[in-house]
Amino acid sequence: MQSAESRFIELAAPGVRTLEPYRPGKPVTELEREYGVRDAIKLASNENPFGPSPQAVAAANAAMQAVARYPDGGGHELVARLAQRHDSAPDSITLGNGSNDVLDLVARVFLTPGLEAIYSQYAFAVYPIAVQATGAEARVAAAHDGSRGPAYGHDLAAMRALVSDRTRVIFIANPNNPTGTWLPGAALRDFVAALPAHVLVVVDEAYFEYVDAPGYPDTSRWLGEFPNLIVTRTFSKAYGLAGLRVGYALSHPAVAGLLNRVRQPFNVNLIAQAAAVAALDDTAHLDHCVRRNRTGMGQLVAGFTRLRLPYIESAGNFVAVDVGRPGQEVYQALLQEGVIVRPVANYAMPNHLRITVGSDAENRRFLAAFEKVLA
Ligand SMILES: Cc1ncc(COP(=O)(O)O)c(C=O)c1O
Repeated sequence: MQSAESRFIELAAPGVRTLEPYRPGKPVTELEREYGVRDAIKLASNENPFGPSPQAVAAANAAMQAVARYPDGGGHELVARLAQRHDSAPDSITLGNGSNDVLDLVARVFLTPGLEAIYSQYAFAVYPIAVQATGAEARVAAAHDGSRGPAYGHDLAAMRALVSDRTRVIFIANPNNPTGTWLPGAALRDFVAALPAHVLVVVDEAYFEYVDAPGYPDTSRWLGEFPNLIVTRTFSKAYGLAGLRVGYALSHPAVAGLLNRVRQPFNVNLIAQAAAVAALDDTAHLDHCVRRNRTGMGQLVAGFTRLRLPYIESAGNFVAVDVGRPGQEVYQALLQEGVIVRPVANYAMPNHLRITVGSDAENRRFLAAFEKVLA
């Protein structure tokens, strides 16, 4: 007799049958329970170790009083503030339950079986999931091998070569997770400008606020010129609101109109909307987090250099380091020390670990544990 499991798998949509679920980083509480350690630290999910703006926390607390009501489904105040910030029209903004949500909306709106999406090898793991779930075909462009561009980085020429009549969406993470690699403005602009009109390009700028690399573009400024461009941003990283889930897309209003057709009406909750509005006001907190991230990144890469471990230069709040042996083993050993990092074998980077930049104390604690387990 057929098991219930195989019966339900057969009943699932074709794209979902073979889908590998996204594996989030291990929560601190789970590690403490499993290993009996105390004061564990987590440098595994590219969160902000300095937390959100106190103003955002105050706004969230105040919003608690109103949770008997549904949130504003249109997110009008947040949308208005974002429109002001980006000098764009409110109808060009689509709010998401994290930027993940908007990536998924793009896939659902523009992809069906028989169509194709393109992304790079080593690109953020949500793209394959979003594409495959629609039944569309994913075309994966080989990343740079280091000869013509930064190793592990997106190769725009290889991505362009995969464009066909069936292509509808290209996902570009700038910078990319887990590699931290980024694309300069001139090359990315030429790429977007040369795309045929039937191809939409999503530039995922989840780590935008952290980047100070020369030539790194703010692609939201190109929206007036390229109607097929979609830019995604999030409050999960530099704004420190990952747990509240707020992200958004900027696009041509006609694209936003389509995304809003499939968006759940209350996808960004009332507390999250209030916190995000307040977070936008606190530029001093944002600057503080970005500055400290820079210092922390310096601390980590100095440690890797001391340990003679190659790492991929990163523009984000995380860095992938080559441990010269299966990363999973080092990950496990670090868990014993109460330190959670992220193995990236699922990205076909079996010898790398991705380390999120923590606070000064967390970085020191990680480096001490790292040195110990590698000895
Ligand atoms: C490149 C990239 N894009 C998007 C996201 C999604 O973040 P969120 O859904 O929290 O906005 C992440 C999260 O890690 C990411 O690394």
